[in-house]
Amino acid sequence: MFKNIHLPRYERIWLTIGAISLVVFLVILGVLAVGLGLQPPGQMKTVPPEQVRTNAPFNKPNLVQVGPNEYKATMVAQMFSYLPDQLEVPAGSTIHFEITSPDVVHGLYVPNTNVNIMVVPGHVAEFTYTFKHPGDYLMLCHEYCGSGHQMMMGKLKVV
Ligand code: CUA
Repeated sequence: MFKNIHLPRYERIWLTIGAISLVVFLVILGVLAVGLGLQPPGQMKTVPPEQVRTNAPFNKPNLVQVGPNEYKATMVAQMFSYLPDQLEVPAGSTIHFEITSPDVVHGLYVPNTNVNIMVVPGHVAEFTYTFKHPGDYLMLCHEYCGSGHQMMMGKLKVV
C-alpha cells in the first residue's frame, strides 16, 4: 500500500491501520444491516392524540392476561399520571406494554429493568419484558412533561 507515494514509515503504518479499520467497520455495518436484517423500527403503530381517550383500545387502559404468564398492558401516559397506575403480575410474567400519550412527550421507565420507553403523542410504543424477580417496582416518567412531571409515577407489583 502507498508504494508510489513517499511517506514516512509511521504515517504509512497509521494510514494502513486507518484504512483497514474503515473496511472492518463497513463490513460489520453490512453484515448487521443486510445479513441480520437489523433496521430502525418500521411500520410503527400510530394513533391520533385527540382520539386516545375516546377510541379503543386506549379509552379502556388495562392489564389483561393473554396467555400463561403473559400479560398485555394497554396504557396511557398523560399529564401527570399513568392509566392504569397500578399493575400486578406473578413473578416470571412477561408483560407486553403498549402505551401512547394524548398530550405531550412522556416516558415509562422501570428502574432495575430494561423497560425504558419514550412515549410520543401520535405513536404507539411497544415493549416486552419478563419480570423474573418479585418486588415492588416503580414506573417513572423520565421525559420532562410539565409542572407535575416529578409526581408522574405508577406502581408495578411482581408477586
Ligand atoms: Cu410525564 Cu414527565
